[in-house]
Amino acid sequence: MSQPNLLGIEDLEPAEILRILDAAEHMVEIGHRAVKKVPTLRGRTIVNLFFEPSTRTRASFEIAGKRLSADVINFSPSSSSLKKSESILDTARTLDAMDPDAVVVRHGVAGVPKRVADVLSAPVINAGDGAHEHPTQALLDCFTVRQQKGRIDGLTVTIVGDILHSRVARSNIYAFLKLGAEVRVAAPPPMLPPHVEQMGVKAFTSLREALDGADVVMALRIQNERLAGAYFPSAREYSATFGLDRAKMRYAKDDAIVMHPGPVNRGVELSHDLADHRPSVILDQVRNGVALRMAVLYLYAGRRTADEG
Ligand code: NCD
Repeated sequence: MSQPNLLGIEDLEPAEILRILDAAEHMVEIGHRAVKKVPTLRGRTIVNLFFEPSTRTRASFEIAGKRLSADVINFSPSSSSLKKSESILDTARTLDAMDPDAVVVRHGVAGVPKRVADVLSAPVINAGDGAHEHPTQALLDCFTVRQQKGRIDGLTVTIVGDILHSRVARSNIYAFLKLGAEVRVAAPPPMLPPHVEQMGVKAFTSLREALDGADVVMALRIQNERLAGAYFPSAREYSATFGLDRAKMRYAKDDAIVMHPGPVNRGVELSHDLADHRPSVILDQVRNGVALRMAVLYLYAGRRTADEG
């Protein structure tokens, strides 16, 4: 990898993205074994530093590290004592003194993983920073699409919902564009970032038009914790116009898949039926998250192991 840290998809070359996806293919097999453990990162220490709540991401980084035989430490500082950026950097320096081999950081403020990386000697993996990026989510989403569709190049990917506040949307826009997909975003106007088309996507305020011919439809969680004002009149109205259900999916291709990074607001972004059944691949995304994060830890935390051959 050309950079020591994984801070965002924006910094990655397409070949590096593919290298991570290919490494994840090898990791999938380990998860099918009775003994799901290989010695790749034995003796290495991985610190999970999560300043924001997380279920899937934290659990899958922990499982991923353990499957590679690393020692994984979960560090969840109470948010109250960490309102000041100095204390975050102090925390980082304290952790650095313990010689971790990788630090996985999630924080509600964009740019914190970068600032932590600036003071750490260990590689930093961004596990989601504010509304900025969530690179491993986009990588596992690309992995899941490639698994389901056999390719990414030439597909049409429609991302629906709170694009403005979503780090998942940003990272996925970068990733799918770099891998040759057409990317569309669809949202009520206040949830579309200004000038979003400059990122190379097509923007729609009509869900029907955005879904026309789509191979992949990705719903996003309404980021209630990041909504400073009123972005839509009510959950019911949002659901009627932008919530996905089987009727609306008829506008997409017959074999289109539905994705969601979770956690799902059931009945808002997705109907209950679609949340639980095909064509949604939500649990495949979660399952693939472990293999993908194994690949990321191997490629970033295992550098010396890899270099030593
Ligand atoms: C996402 C996140 O935290 O950014 N969740 C996740 O990592 N699976 C999406 C979200 O919270 O909406």
